Amino acid sequence: MHIEEWGFSRGPENELVIGGASAVDLARQYGTPLHVVDEDLLRRRARSLREAFEKEYPEVELFYALKCNSVAALVQSIFEEGFGAEVMSDFEFWLARRLGMPARRILLNGPNKSDTLLRRAISDGVGAVVVDSVPELARLEAIADDIRTDVQVLLRVNPDYVPRGMNSASATGSRKGSVFGLDLRTGELGLVLDVICRSRFLRYAGLHAHIGTGIRHPQDYVQAFRRIAPAFLQARAAGFDTRIFDFGGGFGVSTSKEFDTLEFLAYQGWGRLPRLAPKALAFAPEMCGPIKDFFTRQGLPLPTLYLEPGRAITSPAQVLILTVGTVKERSGVGKWVITDGGAGTCAFPLYYEYHEVLLANDVAAPPTEYVRMVGPVCFSSNWIYRRKKMPPLKPGDVIAVMDSGAYFLALEANFGFPRTAVLMVSDGQARLVRRRETLEEMASRDILEVKPHADAAAINRI
Ligand SMILES: Cc1ncc(COP(=O)(O)O)c(C=O)c1O
Repeated sequence: MHIEEWGFSRGPENELVIGGASAVDLARQYGTPLHVVDEDLLRRRARSLREAFEKEYPEVELFYALKCNSVAALVQSIFEEGFGAEVMSDFEFWLARRLGMPARRILLNGPNKSDTLLRRAISDGVGAVVVDSVPELARLEAIADDIRTDVQVLLRVNPDYVPRGMNSASATGSRKGSVFGLDLRTGELGLVLDVICRSRFLRYAGLHAHIGTGIRHPQDYVQAFRRIAPAFLQARAAGFDTRIFDFGGGFGVSTSKEFDTLEFLAYQGWGRLPRLAPKALAFAPEMCGPIKDFFTRQGLPLPTLYLEPGRAITSPAQVLILTVGTVKERSGVGKWVITDGGAGTCAFPLYYEYHEVLLANDVAAPPTEYVRMVGPVCFSSNWIYRRKKMPPLKPGDVIAVMDSGAYFLALEANFGFPRTAVLMVSDGQARLVRRRETLEEMASRDILEVKPHADAAAINRI
């Protein structure tokens, strides 16, 4: 793939240029591992996704899924592009509020919300609570009764539909047996509607579904919608008007992908990577038509469409920059390239997703040899790539792991090293938006009981 696929360019020496700044210069100045966000690209992606849906559907509201990447400056840029917030934890709710998001433009999601979070969100006047289960509804009702406050409720339903190309080990989305949402086959929706009907403070606003992450085929949303459609009629028959339909997030990007089950096996078993032929993925036109048709055919008012994208906005706008430290060649085994990023920085997403890795100091250099790329720790998941065709690599080379904007930072861990710094770049100007962790910070939560040294005690006795 060429760097133009991501919207980046190359400098005079064929180095990767992100947001007008040379990745090699940034690596030198700020050190690596380093995440670099192209702010203009990020904003363009947010804006164009919003505009694409606004073009196809009369009333749409978009809520950025903070779980995807919660670096405050990045979240703020997305909020400035007209997005509300989709949150699923105390931290995310706090961050959205801290960044000035009005509570009414926040959606509270998740299958295990704490009572503290529910209470806080309701008191602040949260836009809607997405109810995930029958027991959760009971807890929510008790809290709403206690603080005598109305709550807008969206009911998450499980479409029981497996999007194409999903890895069958994936826990997200709507596959059979998925942990999320109300089971449409066992009468859970009816139970919940009954409770809301009798409740003093719970207000039915509509339905919610989220079918997974990294979806590449718009038709998957159409198929899932067909599974959900009878639930709107059930709500209507119970006397409820659906004012909102929230279809979650999950839109994939063209430049990286989750391994499907066979690709996962081929990669984990034999190090074989899939080929990725990037093509523009356009969801809005294919998704909106069938939704509008259904409500029109049923003579029901068209609900406002809510969406909760994360990956589609952030993934390609961020790059993880690493430096090659050591290259080892072993006869009969091959070449090992040891970098400063691995188990803690990127090995987890690279375990189940395909991401391009480029030589950032010469993106035009042709790949000629297969290498094994790893990070600096001794652990079975220290892999960047088990087998990747790269140009010849030497110590000091700068490596770019592409599409690091979605779930990399969320899954980041220390594993003996400070967590990464994050830069935002615009018009060639870089600003540090998350500084690298210090060694003191890595130990700052530890509680050390200072016991007198045995020798010291002996000395005291004398
Ligand atoms: C309920 C919900 N909404 C939105 C998202 C965001 O998904 P994505 O980043 O794939 O757009 C997720 C992520 O899994 C989710 O669980």
